[in-house]
Amino acid sequence: MKNIGILLSGRGSNFEAIARNIASGKIPDAKIAVVASNRADAGGLAIAQKLGIPTIVVPSKGKERKQHDQELFEALQPHNLDLICLAGYMRLLSPWLVQQFPQRILNIHPSLLPAFPGLEAQEQAFAYGVKIAGCTVHFVDEELDHGAIIVQRAVPVAENDDEHSLASRILEQEHLAYSEAINIVLEGKFEIVGRRLVRAH
Ligand code: GAR
Repeated sequence: MKNIGILLSGRGSNFEAIARNIASGKIPDAKIAVVASNRADAGGLAIAQKLGIPTIVVPSKGKERKQHDQELFEALQPHNLDLICLAGYMRLLSPWLVQQFPQRILNIHPSLLPAFPGLEAQEQAFAYGVKIAGCTVHFVDEELDHGAIIVQRAVPVAENDDEHSLASRILEQEHLAYSEAINIVLEGKFEIVGRRLVRAH
């Protein structure tokens, strides 16, 4: 049984989709051991409590990044995590924390990286006028929205889209992409060649 830790700062729909896929057996032999947030008011924490999953809040406001991440690390340690999934965790991890979990931290980003890193990626893509938007699940490294790509899903932009309708179709694909990526990583049948994740046959 693999222990997954979720880090989130907001409503937690990606976390909820992962929890649902674990419950239904689409992600086998795994459990969400803990949900941690830097914000006490994150909606995702309430979902975790309803599901009976332990929660941790480590406030980040006013704290130096590494100090915050050390506190977070201490709080996560007892849960023996095999994998950490950032699911709308709106805080850059310190290089120190990334190094504590080599190739064991994933992030989801609502664009086809390397296009549109950073905040409000869906709005950036819409305003840029792309015809194909999408989402990316990738390993976390020391740079923002940057590590090796595990899964991408494309979302065509429709003539009558606005940034909200586009973002909600991207979110549907995020909910599929994250579980797909978790399965690939937990299965472990891949290697990283340069930046490329190459799956074993
Ligand atoms: C998702 O769209 C996720 O891709 C995005 O925040 C949203 C969280 O939604 N993350 C980023 O932009 C990270 N750079 P959720 O709380 O409903 O899962």
